[in-house]
Amino acid sequence: MSKIHNKKIVIEVSNLRKSFNGNLILKDINFKLFEGESLAIIGASGSGKSVLLKNIIGLLIPDNGSIKINNINIVNLPRVAKENLLLELGITFQHGALFDSLKNWENIVFKVKNRKKLSKKDAGILALSIIKKLGLEPQILDLYPSEISGGMQKRVAIARAICGDPKILLFDEPTSGLDPVTGSLIDELIITAVKTVGGSAITITHDMASVCRIADKVILIDNKTISWSGTPKEMLKSKNSRIQEFIQSTNPKLFQ
Ligand SMILES: Nc1ncnc2c1ncn2[C@@H]1O[C@H](COP(=O)(O)OP(=O)(O)O)[C@@H](O)[C@H]1O
Ligand SMILES: [Mg+2]
Repeated sequence: MSKIHNKKIVIEVSNLRKSFNGNLILKDINFKLFEGESLAIIGASGSGKSVLLKNIIGLLIPDNGSIKINNINIVNLPRVAKENLLLELGITFQHGALFDSLKNWENIVFKVKNRKKLSKKDAGILALSIIKKLGLEPQILDLYPSEISGGMQKRVAIARAICGDPKILLFDEPTSGLDPVTGSLIDELIITAVKTVGGSAITITHDMASVCRIADKVILIDNKTISWSGTPKEMLKSKNSRIQEFIQSTNPKLFQ
């Protein structure tokens, strides 16, 4: 494994470039995620944050550059090898993406149940243990996603992401569209989830208060590339005009 300052690099994106039909979305993207680190990606709507995440999980293929997960370049990796590597990731998508036809417990254990060929009983026990770790009510397990609130669906999606203890967690806008109280509960959940699996996380978010709660490091995507990076503390003090605009427009109270 690559090591810098004794910390293992779990994701390394180098010179990533992505366009759709000649329309350039991302260029010169370079960053590293270290073991145990929680990274937040911020940027205006449409700046390419979800596209970046989809490249990292292999749903999109970059035009250029490499994406190493645990030191293996996933770009152009044969399908089976890629799928095996991706099993090490826990992901929530921007738009929920729970399976409507499966109960919440079946959603939570979906990936692991198939992989480990768990019995229904053991899968149920596993789902319950995860729900308990996250401090959620067991009653939701036997309901369908449509029978619980949007905030609760996001929590089930996080439970699903951490099932099987993946060491790398990727969350795309986990708090968007939620009220601030539910949003901060989700943040707590993310912090607990990262600690529970002892892993590393990338969270895409619009919410600067959330960044300050969950992240060790922040990167701003602007003008198709990473135009700023630093700690949340540095972000709040930054003189960078885009950072300031971003904070002012989303959470002006953070400046007070
Ligand atoms: N599959 C696709 N085909 C064509 N254009 C896309 C596709 N996915 C995303 N885009 C475009 O890429 C840009 C960045 O999108 P996205 O990464 O979703 O932004 P955000 O930062 O809000 O997550 C947008 O202009 C979007 O329309
Ligand atoms: Mg997005």
